[in-house]
Amino acid sequence: MYNLAIIGGDGIGNEVMESCEYLLDKLNLEFSFKYGEAGFDCFNKNGTTLPEETIKIASKSDAVLFGASTSTPGQPSPIINLRKALHVYANIRPIRSYKGVNCLRDDINFVIVRENTEGLYSQVEYGDDEKMIAERHITREASDRISKVAFNLCIKREQNKVTCVHKSNVLKKTDGVFKESFYNVAKNYPQIQTEDFYVDAMAMYLVTQPQNFDVIVSTNLFGDILSDESAGLVGGLGLAPSGNIGDHNGLFEPVHGSAPDIAGKNIANPCSMILSAAMMLDYLGEWDVSNDIRNAVEKVIAECKIRTPDLGGDACTMDVTKAIVKELI
Ligand code: NAI
Ligand code: MG
Repeated sequence: MYNLAIIGGDGIGNEVMESCEYLLDKLNLEFSFKYGEAGFDCFNKNGTTLPEETIKIASKSDAVLFGASTSTPGQPSPIINLRKALHVYANIRPIRSYKGVNCLRDDINFVIVRENTEGLYSQVEYGDDEKMIAERHITREASDRISKVAFNLCIKREQNKVTCVHKSNVLKKTDGVFKESFYNVAKNYPQIQTEDFYVDAMAMYLVTQPQNFDVIVSTNLFGDILSDESAGLVGGLGLAPSGNIGDHNGLFEPVHGSAPDIAGKNIANPCSMILSAAMMLDYLGEWDVSNDIRNAVEKVIAECKIRTPDLGGDACTMDVTKAIVKELI
């Protein structure tokens, strides 16, 4: 029996979470769900975007599933603070081409490893009407830790190369530490190739030669931006799952946000949430089940019959979910 914390959040976060729960219920595994609130609706109800109770439920669980939240003016981001509270320092975002989807190339298969606890997401900003300052924190400890995750993941995925992305020509001190730390850690992995690029050039290489990347490691903001760009290479945010991993907790969520433009229409693609649940099952050691889920998603997408509008179809969220479940059982 696995104790899962379920945090739908706002907008399509709740819609794709409903799909995910429907699918989990159909698996040959036992789950106990505990529900937590977070986000914009939660703020309007409780005066906070992330109640202590939600953190408690999440930290006591075996794993957390998070949908997405809408940002609340003047309030901290619940997902950033939840990642911090759970010390899930590595954000793992796999990107791959799917058969039947309009991808830039059909041989894209890399993973972005994004540092999750510091960088420009410190949420420390101050100043006055004339000048505002945002702090960008980079520590050697967090940089070493995230590079180790990237190299170990490269071994696990049986790939050959880790690419470090930074902007050390301008951010000489902060990204100087990040890059130096990467090459120090690399010394312990002599069998793995290394390279590093400035983030602006990398944004272009992802479009011109995405097939050449295996594992990409970067700081918080750059990793966030490059992962949406990368999702765009392979069919969009509806196919982009992620896992946030620490030493004691795992939190799994789609890369996308609450998508107010399509919320309430029942047309959100549930695949990124469902694939995030598969990453959760990997984390829990249920590899057979997670592989089955990935195969079922692949099959439904490849058949091109039942798909949501973001992939050119006219099916609704639950149609796709039920088609995936049908492949599973
Ligand atoms: P978004 O990721 O919500 O949407 C970007 C675009 O992708 C939209 O056109 C949307 O319709 C489409 N899209 C996203 N997920 C989709 C899915 N599953 N199926 C089909 N289409 C999908 O980003 P946006 O619009 O910039 O932000 C909306 C809100 O979400 C904001 O309040 C933002 O702060 C928040 N946000 C929250 C995140 C989180 O909770 N982890 C992450 C990113 C944004
Ligand atoms: Mg993002």
